[in-house]
Amino acid sequence: MSLERASIGFRVNGAAVSLDVSPVQRLSSVLRDELHLIGTKIGCDAGDCGACTVMLDDEAVCACLVPAAGVAGRAVRTVEGLANGKLSALQASFLEHGAAQCGICTPGMLVAGTALLERNPQPSEEEVRDALGGVLCRCTGYRKIIDAVMNSARHVAALDRRLPASGQAIGASPIRLDGVPKVTGTDSFGADSFPPDALSVFVVRSPHHHASFAFGDLDAFVSKHPGVVAVFTAADIPGRNRFGTIPAFADQPALAEGSVRFRGEAIAMIAGTRDAVQDIAIADFPVEWTPLPHMLSPGEASAAGALLIHDNRPGNVLVSGFVEHGDPESALAQAAHSASGTIETSFVEHAYIEPEAGWAEMDGDTLVIRACTQAPYMDRDDAAIVLGLAPDKVRIIPTSTGGGFGSKLDMSVQPLIGLVALKTRRPAALAYTRSESMMSTTKRHPASMQATIGADEEGHVTGMVFTGDFNTGAYASWGPTVTNRVPVHASGPYVTPNYRATGRAIHTNGPIAGAFRGFGVPQATIMQETLYDELAGKLGMDRLAFRQKNALRDGCRTVTGQKLEAGVGIVACLDALAPHWHRALGDAEVFNKLNDRVRRGVGIASCWYGCGNTSLPNPSTIKVGIAPDGTVVLHQGAVDIGQGSNTVIAQICADALGLPLGSLRLKSGDTGISPDAGKTSASRQTFVSGKAAEKAGRALREKVLRFANVSGKAALSFDGPVLAVHDEGGERRRIDLAGLAVDADGFVFGAIETYDPPTLPLDAKGQGKPYAVYGYGAQIAELEVDMRLGTVKLVKFTAAHDVGKAINPLMVEGQIEGGIAQGIGMALMEEYIPGRTENLHDYLIPTIGDVPEIESILIEVADPEGPSGAKGLGEHVLIPTAPAIINAIRHATGVLVTTIPATPTRVLEAIRKAEAVK
Ligand code: FES
Ligand code: FES
Repeated sequence: MSLERASIGFRVNGAAVSLDVSPVQRLSSVLRDELHLIGTKIGCDAGDCGACTVMLDDEAVCACLVPAAGVAGRAVRTVEGLANGKLSALQASFLEHGAAQCGICTPGMLVAGTALLERNPQPSEEEVRDALGGVLCRCTGYRKIIDAVMNSARHVAALDRRLPASGQAIGASPIRLDGVPKVTGTDSFGADSFPPDALSVFVVRSPHHHASFAFGDLDAFVSKHPGVVAVFTAADIPGRNRFGTIPAFADQPALAEGSVRFRGEAIAMIAGTRDAVQDIAIADFPVEWTPLPHMLSPGEASAAGALLIHDNRPGNVLVSGFVEHGDPESALAQAAHSASGTIETSFVEHAYIEPEAGWAEMDGDTLVIRACTQAPYMDRDDAAIVLGLAPDKVRIIPTSTGGGFGSKLDMSVQPLIGLVALKTRRPAALAYTRSESMMSTTKRHPASMQATIGADEEGHVTGMVFTGDFNTGAYASWGPTVTNRVPVHASGPYVTPNYRATGRAIHTNGPIAGAFRGFGVPQATIMQETLYDELAGKLGMDRLAFRQKNALRDGCRTVTGQKLEAGVGIVACLDALAPHWHRALGDAEVFNKLNDRVRRGVGIASCWYGCGNTSLPNPSTIKVGIAPDGTVVLHQGAVDIGQGSNTVIAQICADALGLPLGSLRLKSGDTGISPDAGKTSASRQTFVSGKAAEKAGRALREKVLRFANVSGKAALSFDGPVLAVHDEGGERRRIDLAGLAVDADGFVFGAIETYDPPTLPLDAKGQGKPYAVYGYGAQIAELEVDMRLGTVKLVKFTAAHDVGKAINPLMVEGQIEGGIAQGIGMALMEEYIPGRTENLHDYLIPTIGDVPEIESILIEVADPEGPSGAKGLGEHVLIPTAPAIINAIRHATGVLVTTIPATPTRVLEAIRKAEAVK
């Protein structure tokens, strides 16, 4: 807002500054826009996320809530001021503990942590939780952040920045290769590099779930607002105004054409100077809305006679998925015991701390888009279609991405800023506000599920029938993937000889549901794992023993008829949990003898998850080469959204190549320079891109050895621009790289390799080989329920996950802890309601106070297909958490909560209902 400017003097990181700014300008904006201190991040501009935390004098505050006038004469310290020539103890500790994943929350965490440590150098865990309670992290699960703060003083001297030697990268936990910028505040996310002359873009969005609209005089609007350059509508889109992550289902307009199908859908853009765009009162925008009837539930949308949201999708069914094996009806009819039930889940928001952001410009006739993303090549191809350009005339340069979890697989800002840059030939920048991010981007599918599972007298599962309707919202996004993946996985990692599972994705006028860590499998697993507990109860069996008895083993067939030859690790996970299970049950028994109002419960649940696309091509290509100066350049196109692929893929490549990890230099997933390593989704990067990196590393090594005419066992090392090759006999050859010709990539030696997992299509009954590799896991939840309030207090998680080979054990633990935190949110608190929870104040995600102790057990049952035996992990770790919690609540209270999340109201309601029928 442009109020009168005033001169305001204060100190920033020790230096005096004086600025002419509006006294009400947010301090966060002053720091970022006037002083270019981009380490102060913006996640909400409302005091909810803490990403903007700075120290004002000695107190940690949210800079977005402090007006510029409020800092006059005072001292501000930002993350950039924490390092003093070298990393502060806390910054070093964050690196050493793996406390920064995507890094978007890291500056706020570091500042809040520093404020605490300066007044209390050795805080307790509770004191750390109190001090950091206002800063949200969606990636780490907070455990490593707590460890980093508590151990800051102890570990600073021991920070080891050395990287593993040749052949020792796999299995080591070096600090992340992209870690230092994350702790110094210099990492550049989507909104961090806007050029000063970029046009700002404001997106006009629908306030209605379903409506038609007509524009008034747009030219008059532009003329009336000095600084506004243009308004763009669907009429300005030069290409095909439909995009979507699955080309055959592409149905989403970048700007709606006369009607909208969900609240938050974009209809127009206003481009202009930053001040002009900021000052626009949206009520002035000339658009007339005609609200239309809307349907928010699949029940309404699939009822006979319901209006069609897309004319070509009868019954509002986007797609159905189906898997059938054996004769489930007969098996259930003959079962000695069976259990049936229903479960309902809710929309879940990804709530990454970085709202979508980026900027675009023309470079000659090429449109260059810099934005946060999980899928640069998909963005390139989709943006090209919408903008009527050839794919090679669009270049996507991924910025650092502040969390994604599936939602940043879909385009957001890309076609919008692309259109403005294309039309105006000027740079165009857009950072979503928190509420437009929440309104307009994808969610986890709400599911309405029913299932029956039967078992024989000995406790062997004999049959299962599952049906699930998934609310896929207004557009397709990843609905088809969710609907196909669920029937393949709804059995859990258990032998189920007779099986039928059906999933339907139903369109509604709700928010678009898409990919979110697990693609529908977390929802289906709640259904299956809660029935497993019920069935174990009917059989009189211990719940863990029932799962151990039925778990898949090497040589078993899955529900798609796929024979799992080797690498099945679920039994190892369950076995590893056994002592913890019995200890936890014992603790609960003792606790419950002494307590009546608060009851302790223990729950267990398992997961399995096929890594990569379901029965579809899923290639990754990795290029690596040696430059004349002795640099090894790894084109690491597997976008690192915090999960660690920059480090893990490099570890795999370094060992395959036989060179130290430190000799590698990374090139990003820029579509102009790096080959396509596929999207960061479906837990595929470590397995698929890792395998491509292993192949590329080996191919490059082979070329060097062939050139040197030595055996495969020779060792490589660099002596500046000289590559030294030591053969088995100890003889040394020196290859003077500078004297050799280079290829088109500037490499003396180069290799590019592609890996595509071997899968087979599913037939009409869903039989086939949908995945080449599966990962497995199981978790125990211990918790306490207040029987009068319905509140749940988590006590401990114990998680055993089979990762095949832990390429980087610290990062594996970080993934487990982060996944559990998201699972806690899904189980207990997260429920996105359009129009009601479009901010981080009303939509609650777990804070540092909500995540209890987590004990991780890494299981390594090598898969013959994975690189060094490795399997994917990212999705798996969330899947068992919610069912383990729901099962623990039932163990504590005797009641099953069937509508998720299990809020205190729902827990209490279930308890009261059970009491009423006693
Ligand atoms: S940006 Fe200030 S609290 Fe979220
Ligand atoms: S590391 Fe905390 S939000 Fe990503």
